Amino acid sequence: MSPKIRGKKRVRFIIPVITAFIILSTISGGRIMAQEEKKMIALPKPKVRGTVSLEETIKKRRSRRNFLDKPLTLEQVSQLLWAAQGITDERTGFRASPSGGACYPLDIYLVIGKNSVEGLEAGVYRYLVSNHSLEIHLRGDKRRALALASLGQMFIARAPISIVTTVEYSRITSRYGQRGVRYAHIEIGHVGENIYLQTEALGLGTVAIGAFSDGMVAKVLSLPRGHEPLYIMPVGYPR
Ligand SMILES: Cc1cc2nc3c(=O)[nH]c(=O)nc-3n(C[C@H](O)[C@H](O)[C@H](O)COP(=O)(O)O)c2cc1C
Repeated sequence: MSPKIRGKKRVRFIIPVITAFIILSTISGGRIMAQEEKKMIALPKPKVRGTVSLEETIKKRRSRRNFLDKPLTLEQVSQLLWAAQGITDERTGFRASPSGGACYPLDIYLVIGKNSVEGLEAGVYRYLVSNHSLEIHLRGDKRRALALASLGQMFIARAPISIVTTVEYSRITSRYGQRGVRYAHIEIGHVGENIYLQTEALGLGTVAIGAFSDGMVAKVLSLPRGHEPLYIMPVGYPR
């Protein structure tokens, strides 16, 4: 082979390699950026001793729909997330709410409004159970969109935060088949009651919302494929 032909072959080989390198480094650069933007927000350590008894809390619990325009603290947010899904046994990884076969098919998102939680910008956050922290999922105040997706229950837009619990059925149906769907629906009740009681014990108010368009809420929250919303619980200081 003449040196001229060998040179041409090398150029034909090098150009796609360089192009692939540029494309790959651009993509991975983007991913690194996204990771940096998604940095973890560590939550304060939750308390295991409160100021009111469990019995008083059960007695006082009510669904509350009128909220003051008053921001919550990161401590309050931390306590609510812990009561919903926090790890309560480090050895086993078992959580505050029971789960069929410890499959844990539920995830928690927080919809936070503008000036609604001290130190946090408006957005949708995902609760990372394993290290009790938050990760930004979407930026911007989505409360009005969430209220509209909840068949126009506009008090949701006036609550500083909403705790949205979602399900990925495959995590539990892979073990229990169709019965796993029932188990997930029972589990959301446990999570909801824990949120109700913790909210009440903190002097805050909430209401369980089941009336919403699944599709619209999934769109507002930009949920991953296969994840569906089950419960929305707006939280704030009761008026
Ligand atoms: C599965 C379920 C779905 C609910 N959905 C809504 C809802 O979409 N909007 C609302 O305002 N309240 C909703 N609620 C709250 C009930 O209206 C409330 O629990 C009931 O009126 C009893 O009041 P209490 O919670 O103060 O005892 C729901 C409750 C449950 C258990």
